[in-house]
Amino acid sequence: MAFILELVLVLASLLGWWFVQDKKNHKKYPPGPLRLPILGNILQIAAQSPFPSTAFLNLSKKYGEVMYLKMGMVSAVTFNSPQSVHEILNHDKAVERTRTMLPMIEARMYAQNLGIIFSSSEPWQKMRRFTIRTLRDFGFGKAASMDVVIGEELDKFTDHLKNLMKKDGVVEVHGLFDLTLVNVLWRLVTGVNYAMDDERILELLKLSNEMIQNTKFSFDSSATFPFLWHLFPSWSGKNLQMKIIKALHKYCRDTAEYNRKHCDYKNNPQCYVDVFLQKIDETANDPETEYTDDQLVLCLLDLFQAGAETSSKTMSFAMLYMLTHQDIQQKVQKELDEVVGKGKEVTMEEKGRLPYTQAAVLECLRYSVVLPFPPARQASDDFYFHDYFIKKGTVIMPNLEAVHFDEALWGDPRNFRPERFLKKDMTIDSKLASNLVQFGGGKRVCLGQNLAESTVFLYFANILSKFQLVKVAGDPEPTTVPEQGITYSPQPFRVLFKSRA
Ligand code: HEM
Repeated sequence: MAFILELVLVLASLLGWWFVQDKKNHKKYPPGPLRLPILGNILQIAAQSPFPSTAFLNLSKKYGEVMYLKMGMVSAVTFNSPQSVHEILNHDKAVERTRTMLPMIEARMYAQNLGIIFSSSEPWQKMRRFTIRTLRDFGFGKAASMDVVIGEELDKFTDHLKNLMKKDGVVEVHGLFDLTLVNVLWRLVTGVNYAMDDERILELLKLSNEMIQNTKFSFDSSATFPFLWHLFPSWSGKNLQMKIIKALHKYCRDTAEYNRKHCDYKNNPQCYVDVFLQKIDETANDPETEYTDDQLVLCLLDLFQAGAETSSKTMSFAMLYMLTHQDIQQKVQKELDEVVGKGKEVTMEEKGRLPYTQAAVLECLRYSVVLPFPPARQASDDFYFHDYFIKKGTVIMPNLEAVHFDEALWGDPRNFRPERFLKKDMTIDSKLASNLVQFGGGKRVCLGQNLAESTVFLYFANILSKFQLVKVAGDPEPTTVPEQGITYSPQPFRVLFKSRA
């Protein structure tokens, strides 16, 4: 009995000492809930919501918009108001990414500073600049050439959709847009264009999806306690993630090898991969070169995953919202019918004359928050954010949901209401729209923003011009509560597509 009493006293003193030390160490840190030893704030976060972005938002109401959280071994500062999110996205001490937070990311990068999404400092700057410049040379982001590429892919997609509709018109939306949206990007990146039933690419897209859905930033045990990933490879998901990473690496390496062997990349480069291969050859004797085969594999993988995942999920959400808001679908179709003609093709030229359709797309982007946290950044140095001290290496997590659902900014953020983006004269309220942060911001802002905006607008407008989206009789009411992962996606649902032409 005496022993147990002594043990309890020792444990209580240790706990007391830990709390005093923790308070001393963090006296200038942003406020946050009381941290437990080892677990930190995991339990308080989990008690709020299974969605970290919502959990942070709830906690921030009590502790403040800038909040310090400890998630297992990860020290993070989260930003939970429009003003603080915009400010931190543009802060020059918060440009670097952390790649060690998730061991899966480190393995995906061959444990080197490679690619664009998760790389940092000079190699990142070089690869980002090279990628933007090279893709632009092939027409990326230029309205006229993107209109043609997207238009051709849309035709293929429409035929594919009609094929799927043949039996009874009912189509499963999950994954519906993955391949077609990869094709838009992949023409410029690799010069390749896949058939809509290409089994290998469909399998890879499925794997990529699985990898993203199985990784959850704040509650994933491999993020909070990275050593568990190595210790329990099956339970932690390591085995599955490694299998997927290997398959994706192989696909990207094979893609580069194909162009090396079969394309005249030296004299007549036709795509991003060709220009990259030229660079590899040109700098082959430079031991410091950034242009290596591994680098090319990672840049391809980044473009493949960043490009396919986010745009495809945005489109799936857009379909879901049109299904659950029939009145809004009808308003979009009325405008399209009047301006372009029922069932007719919509191009970027008409965009300016389609304010309601534009407003509906903006509302889809606001409401879906496909990527609630940009890939985590870290403090590159000690710095003060207003009065709060942020230590070098602290993970920086701007909560994009906090911006898109802020009551002061939007009034009724939980209502899906495109009209909020329209001024009295029926033009787009660009000042209000500029608050949206679905593409992040600052030096790290999404590299595919222009392409994604054009793609989502054209796919949305053309599908609604040609098809009516109806609920499937007998199916459960579709929910707008997302499935979580690094990106959020709609829970599986089906649509009855009816031809409008
Ligand atoms: C609706 C579609 C898309 C959404 C919502 C989206 C969202 C985002 C967000 C939030 C970030 C992080 C930005 C930050 O840290 O501030 C990002 C980064 C990135 N995105 Fe996108 N994205 C989309 C489409 C695309 C496409 C089509 C591409 C293909 C080129 C792409 C390529 C990238 C890359 C390479 C980065 C990393 C940039 C860097 O770290 O320097 N994204 N995206």
